[in-house]
Amino acid sequence: MASSSFSSMAVIVSMALLLLLVKSSSAQLSTNFYSSSCPKLFSTVKSGVQSAISAEKRMGASLLRLFFHDCFVDGCDGSILLDNTSNFTGEKDALPNKNSVRGFDVIDKIKKQVEKACPGVVSCADILAIVARDSVVILGGPNWNVKLGRRDSTTASESAANNNIPPPSSSLSNLISKFSAQGLSTKDMIALSGAHTIGKARCISFRAHIYNDSDIDNSFAKTRRANCPSKSGSGDNNLAPLDFETDTEFDNYYYKNLIIKKGLLHSDQELYNGGSADSQVKSYANSESTFFSDFTAAMINMGDITPLTGSNGEIRKNCRKIN
Ligand code: HEM
Ligand SMILES: *[C@@H]1O[C@H](CO)[C@@H](O)[C@H](O)[C@H]1NC(C)=O
Ligand SMILES: *[C@@H]1O[C@H](CO)[C@@H](O)[C@H](O)[C@H]1NC(C)=O
Ligand SMILES: *[C@@H]1O[C@H](CO)[C@@H](O)[C@H](O)[C@H]1NC(C)=O
Repeated sequence: MASSSFSSMAVIVSMALLLLLVKSSSAQLSTNFYSSSCPKLFSTVKSGVQSAISAEKRMGASLLRLFFHDCFVDGCDGSILLDNTSNFTGEKDALPNKNSVRGFDVIDKIKKQVEKACPGVVSCADILAIVARDSVVILGGPNWNVKLGRRDSTTASESAANNNIPPPSSSLSNLISKFSAQGLSTKDMIALSGAHTIGKARCISFRAHIYNDSDIDNSFAKTRRANCPSKSGSGDNNLAPLDFETDTEFDNYYYKNLIIKKGLLHSDQELYNGGSADSQVKSYANSESTFFSDFTAAMINMGDITPLTGSNGEIRKNCRKIN
């Protein structure tokens, strides 16, 4: 009696251990994943990112954003890179992406170079993760070791792109819940929002904030209105910098701007509006190094969102289509 309950206990415990092992080994990313299969990976990607940013500084911002929009839709699996097929609609025409995300040609070019160096080895999802890090570093931000071993999806979801990526009209509580739905903390969300220290937004994304919000510096709103007409449909694609001070330098001015009520998006200013995010914004405005270390940790957390690993998914040959 005692021995049989002991042995059934032992069976249950070892099965649970086995399950845990299988689960964790299938979800394991590592920084040295390609060290023997593709030793030239990092230098190949870095030179592609460097030349794209040399040609156009804004591209660093666009490439960083691609990784975010990939990871928030069924994990960091390269789904955003897929074109439409007869089986599914891609994510490129989803509301947060259409006429907005850019950099696909740069990724194609880098993928081609990587395929030349190590054919059929490196996923498009991992290329996006490395490209995001390199962009931040090249524009003066922090460095970190990128975890790798993701595989590419064989499908995409326009509806998940629409549902999961928060719009610029979001309230603080909406932002918190959209990030929480991805397993990211409020702290991660506030640190990741600092990505808006680089890049640009279209008038259509900030029109309501500069005309209708009261939580904005008056002269800043007035300046932005000059190139963003109030009438919907006119000047929708006119651009303004997300960080009015230094939109091609990865620094902590994004947070300093929020404190003086010069956030460009409604969602940006929500992080400093007398609410629960204020103290973290203040700490990043006061300490760039605190921002940098929290941003790095949050990028790693975002990169961990439900990767395809092991024999799941595939290594795409062309990032735009499944093999
Ligand atoms: C917190 C919620 C977020 C919201 C509501 C948001 C919203 C937006 C919007 C509306 C734009 C301008 C798009 C356009 O008008 O074409 C934008 C641009 C950008 N976003 Fe975010 N974003 C968020 C978080 C993030 C995160 C987590 C990252 C990366 C870690 C990121 C990186 C960027 C970058 C770099 C740009 C500029 C892109 C370029 O110049 O091409 N954003 N974002
Ligand atoms: C992809 O499919 C969607 C939905 O059918 C369509 O609106 C969009 O124009 C297509 N995009 C391209 C590039 O063909
Ligand atoms: C569509 O799905 C079917 C069945 O899974 C598959 O055989 C076919 O290759 C897919 N077509 C495309 C264009 O992805
Ligand atoms: C501002 O708010 C008013 C009232 O809700 C609305 O009619 C108008 O379209 C808004 N304007 C902009 C630029 O968002």
